[in-house]
Order: sequence, then structure tokens, then C-alpha cells
Amino acid sequence: MGVVEEVGPGVVSIKKGDRVVLPFNIGCGFCFNCTRQFTNACLTVNPKHHGGGFGYSGMGPFRGQAEFLQVPFADFNCLKLPGTPGDELEDDFVLLADILPTAYHASEQAHVVPGDTVAIFGAGPVGLLSAMCARLKGAAEAYVVDSVPARLALVKNVQGAIAVDYSKGDPVKQILELRKPHREQVQNLRPGSGDKMPGVMCGIDAVGYESHGNASPGRTQQPNQIIENLIQLVNPTGHIGIIGVYFPQDPRGVDENEKQGRFTLSLGMAWDKGISIEMGQAPVKRYNVYLRDLIIAGLVKPSMIVSHRLPLEAAPDAYQKFDTRSDGYTKVLLKPGLKAASLN
Ligand SMILES: NC(=O)c1ccc[n+]([C@@H]2O[C@H](COP(=O)([O-])OP(=O)(O)OC[C@H]3O[C@@H](n4cnc5c(N)ncnc54)[C@H](O)[C@@H]3O)[C@@H](O)[C@H]2O)c1
Ligand SMILES: [Zn+2]
Repeated sequence: MGVVEEVGPGVVSIKKGDRVVLPFNIGCGFCFNCTRQFTNACLTVNPKHHGGGFGYSGMGPFRGQAEFLQVPFADFNCLKLPGTPGDELEDDFVLLADILPTAYHASEQAHVVPGDTVAIFGAGPVGLLSAMCARLKGAAEAYVVDSVPARLALVKNVQGAIAVDYSKGDPVKQILELRKPHREQVQNLRPGSGDKMPGVMCGIDAVGYESHGNASPGRTQQPNQIIENLIQLVNPTGHIGIIGVYFPQDPRGVDENEKQGRFTLSLGMAWDKGISIEMGQAPVKRYNVYLRDLIIAGLVKPSMIVSHRLPLEAAPDAYQKFDTRSDGYTKVLLKPGLKAASLN
């Protein structure tokens, strides 16, 4: 996000001085995928693969996280913002670059509609904002699972969401237990619903392959843990959205299968339940204009997850702390030009 310094000769709608935010994935606007709003899989910006993005491995030659940024196809990619740098919506607008549209996409992948019951694994930035988006769409129940106290504490900022600490026991069993009163009050009014649909209708994986095993919070990695939890927990005819990342190759995978991006999952149970599973990178541009307008209207306040605002020079240390989730590092905003003395 920033203010335009200079425009190239082919740019028609953006001018010097415009305040803009950019999707992390870059689209051309005219390829088969971009024209269908799948800007996450643009076919022309990255010579080697489908999909291009700023500063992300395998997504082309574009750099990010710098004071100045060159924007390909600026007319298509820039989202104009009102106001001026440093105003009261700055920390909300910057989250339009990735996390807020990503979280909204997770709720789309999981088919959340009004009155739904939703379980979200991971209370990082994506999980917390997925809960916010699920509630925005009218979810009746939202459970958010993690084990990091500072992150679980933020769940209460999402109206009506319930924090579930998986270090205190199997999170699937905890959510089934928490749902009991709702089942007794509402679902039992419909024959069969209470006992045959004890779980949730929508599940979101906001953790990805870095998930820890249920029995080892913060310690042993178990990449299939979240998908397994969701297949157990989601009701027949429900939906799972996998917004957390899984790589096609991982040299640090624990065995040959994981090195090749192959994970075991209870496909039989998922099939038997008729669960839909959607996954992949968020097409940020599909949603960012509407989400910007919701921020301006005061209906969403995604900056509630921001824990630190730091100068660019503090990035290496901040990444290290974010990686270990230490010192309450939930979401860090890097602000070029910010004086080290004004750290919080
Ligand atoms: N699809 C996309 O377009 C897109 C975009 C941005 C981020 N992501 C991905 O979304 C995922 C979440 O992003 P983030 O920034 O919130 O990450 P994060 O690492 O800050 O948060 C993940 C959280 O999951 C928790 N966790 C680990 N194991 C768990 C378990 N077994 N049960 C419950 N919680 C567990 C961790 O404690 C952590 O708080 C990452 O994989 C990220 O790469 C995807
Ligand atoms: Zn394209």
C-alpha cells in the first residue's frame, strides 16, 4: 500500500499522488483465468507457472516488502483508496492486500451462509479474520481453535465467536460438546438433526501444512492434522475450505510422501458424508473492492488483529518472532519511514 510516485506511459486510470493498495497476487486482466476472476492463477504475468505475486516463492520475478514497488498492469491491479497516509483507516486498508480478502475467500470456500455453524482451525491473522467474515455473512456459531494464549484472547474481538484451546483436549470433541446446547435448542426441532448432524456445516483450515499434532501443541508438525479434524467434525453435506497452504514439494517433509506434497486423509469418510472440499490461493481482486467499502462504512475493522507496527529495518527480527508466535506477535505491519523510537 502506498502513494503512486510515477506512472508508465500505458497507464490510463492511475496518476501520481493516488493512494492505492495492491493484491499480493498480480493479474493481467485479460487472460482466461483473470477474466473469470481467478486472478490467483493469472496465465501471463509469470513466465514459469500459473499465478504471479509480489515477493512470494514460485510466483515470478516480482519483489515486495520494499519502500518502492513496480506494479505491472497498474490499471488492473491498483485499488484506489480514499484518505491520506497515516489516517485512522490505514491499518485496515493495508490488510486488503492479502489477509482480509484471503479470509473472506476461506468463508466462500467453506460455503458459509446465514445461520451456519462454522469451525475454524488456526487463530492467526487468517483464522481470526475468517471468523470475522463468517460472522459478517451471518454465521450463527463460530468456533476458533488454537493453543497460543495471545491469539485465543483475540477471538473475543469477533462478536459471538468462541475460542477453543486444543492444548486442553481433542478440539473436535470440545466443539461437539460446546455445540450440545445449540443442538438441544434448535436442531432437535427437526427429526434426526440433533444426533446425525452433531458437528458443524462449514470448516476452515487456516493453518496449513505447518499444523502441529493435536497431542503436541507448539511442538511436532503433523501436516494432515487439520484436514483430519475437519473431516471428523463437518456434518454430512457440509463444506471444507482449505485456505492454509500445502506445497507440492517440501524438501523438509518427514517422509518421501510429504516431500512430494502427498498427505493421507480419510477420503472415505469425506466421500461418505458428501462433504465438498475447496482449496487454493485467494483471488484477492475478486473481493477487495467490496471489502474496502465495508471498511469505509465501518462494518468491518480488520486491524483488530494488528499487534505490532514496526519500521522496515525491524523486519528480520519481527519475522523470527512471528514464526515462533512469541511476544504476542500476531500481525506485524512494516512501515517504511517509521522511526525506531516509535515502536510499540
Ligand atoms: N490461500 C491463500 O491465498 C493464503 C493467503 C495468505 C495466507 N495463507 C495461509 O493461511 C495459513 C494461515 O495464515 P496465518 O498468517 O494466519 O498463519 P499463522 O501461522 O500466523 O497462524 C496459524 C495458527 O495455527 C495454529 N495451529 C498450529 N497447529 C494447530 C492445530 N493443530 N490446531 C489449531 N491451530 C493450530 C498456530 O498456533 C498459529 O496460531 C498459512 O498457511 C498461510 O500461508 C493462505
Ligand atoms: Zn491474467
